[in-house]
Amino acid sequence: MDLKKIQAAKVRNKKVFLRADFNVAIAKGRAKETFKIAAAKETLDYLLSQGARVALVSHLGRPDGKPNLEFSLERLVQDAENILGRKIIFIPDCVGEKVKNGLEKMREDEVLLLENVRFYEGEEKNDESFAKRLAENFDIYINDAFSVSHRDQASVTGVTKFLSSYAGLRLQKEISEMEKVKNNPDHPAVAIIGGAKIETKLPVIQFFEKGYEHVLVGGKIANEALDQKIEFQSGKVILPSDFLGDRFDIGPNTANKFREIISQAKTVVWNGPVGKFEEAPYDTGTKEVLQAIIASGAYSVLGGGESVEILEENNAMDKISFVSTGGGAMLEYLSGNPMPGIEVLVK
Ligand code: 3PG
Repeated sequence: MDLKKIQAAKVRNKKVFLRADFNVAIAKGRAKETFKIAAAKETLDYLLSQGARVALVSHLGRPDGKPNLEFSLERLVQDAENILGRKIIFIPDCVGEKVKNGLEKMREDEVLLLENVRFYEGEEKNDESFAKRLAENFDIYINDAFSVSHRDQASVTGVTKFLSSYAGLRLQKEISEMEKVKNNPDHPAVAIIGGAKIETKLPVIQFFEKGYEHVLVGGKIANEALDQKIEFQSGKVILPSDFLGDRFDIGPNTANKFREIISQAKTVVWNGPVGKFEEAPYDTGTKEVLQAIIASGAYSVLGGGESVEILEENNAMDKISFVSTGGGAMLEYLSGNPMPGIEVLVK
């Protein structure tokens, strides 16, 4: 894929709109998925080292196009300062005079964080006049948010009509990791798909059936597949044969089977827990899957908010070869569905 890359942009003294993804869970006033915030660091450091003036732009939650303090990005200022190691100036809007003044007044070592773009209806509707307002204070647009690149929204695609636009370092890395496991995995290759919503996961299971040796299915989608009597013709898809509780987790026989298959793998892709992992003892299967992946030494790629939570809880973030920021985006990419936020950056 021939992308317009940040390395080709002349950013010195330019005002840069950096689309990041700070859409993280917040508990007791602190960010939970700090990894998503950290994902913007490399590109941010690069831009500042090149003398750019940077505003971080993101959505948080689904506030339905209206201002709502529960979803204010101001709640993440402290976490962002700690994680990114920069002085962050919060701007209580994402368009207009406040942004313009903030960019004029900011010092070289400071970074702006704009208010939630989804406080405006035009964001999710990808309204052209809203995209124009988002763009008007800036010279250059960088998308570094793989995890929102499946969305056709003003801050992801709309702004690119008005600004020279490039892929950030993190976005480039995410795409090359996805391409590797999609088109060029080492074999045997195993996909583990769990979580909920069989309708969104079916295309990805079908994709892996074509090129991978095994697709291990657990979690709610396994129950849905069994209830709906979905048939997989390839013989590669393995559904649970036993359970814990009221089908809350895979049972010991299934866990053994999954472990045996994973132990042979050279590539493992994992998205979604195989049980109700938030409630012991139904986290057992998911933990066993994680241990099996680590023990296999396979090249491992994992994505999805819940899967990342499991890694964080088990101090295993650095034991997986690549942890994607994308949950939904990873599934869309691997299913071969359109990624509008990436398509607008292709040369
Ligand atoms: C995510 O957390 O997966 C992304 O930020 C996308 O969020 P959305 O599903 O609300 O568009």
